Amino acid sequence: MAVSPHGVIETMTTYSFAQDKGGPGKTTTALLFAADVALDGYRTVVIDTDINQQAAAFINKASISSLSVIPDIREETVVQAIQKAEAENDIVIVDLPGGSSMLAIKALCLSHLVIIPSQPNLPDVKAAMKTVAQVNDAEAMMRSPIARVLVWTRFKPGLRADPRVTCARRLKATRTAPLS
Ligand SMILES: Nc1ncnc2c1ncn2[C@@H]1O[C@H](COP(=O)(O)OP(=O)(O)OP(=O)(O)O)[C@@H](O)[C@H]1O
Ligand SMILES: [Mg+2]
Repeated sequence: MAVSPHGVIETMTTYSFAQDKGGPGKTTTALLFAADVALDGYRTVVIDTDINQQAAAFINKASISSLSVIPDIREETVVQAIQKAEAENDIVIVDLPGGSSMLAIKALCLSHLVIIPSQPNLPDVKAAMKTVAQVNDAEAMMRSPIARVLVWTRFKPGLRADPRVTCARRLKATRTAPLS
């Protein structure tokens, strides 16, 4: 469990980066977040569940002392990996592959916050809506709220949102929920 520099106990430990579509920036956003909190001194671990192992490759080269990686995690091992990582770290980040899977559902169920990266275009937003539905399913299975947030990636400064994209606001994707 993390304690902030102000002494506040922070109860959110596990963050999953999920998106039904491939390529919206899950791994990039996860690594930026991981490096940022690790450089702030939090013991941070990234659980790499993607067969391409790009997060693991980055972290192995990054050489940030408080940042580590658990590579090659699959559906059969993801629950134990998250539980062990939570016991040994302040922040646990799960980089998920695109698509829906039992692996993703297990990680979503154990997440304190699900971060859904999306580029501001219709295919990405439609896929983000599928991911929100998966988080809702995980929440129903857990009988407990799971906070989620949609993060825009790769947008040009000053970009005016396409009217079709602003429908994402109706996703209530930024809804956060109290932790039990
Ligand atoms: N903000 C950005 N600016 C420019 N390029 C970016 C940005 N974010 C991601 N990319 C590039 O877009 C590509 C896809 O990004 P990334 O691998 O993070 O997506 P992903 O959602 O993890 O993909 P996958 O579903 O394959 O795991 C990569 O080549 C990455 O370097
Ligand atoms: Mg990725």
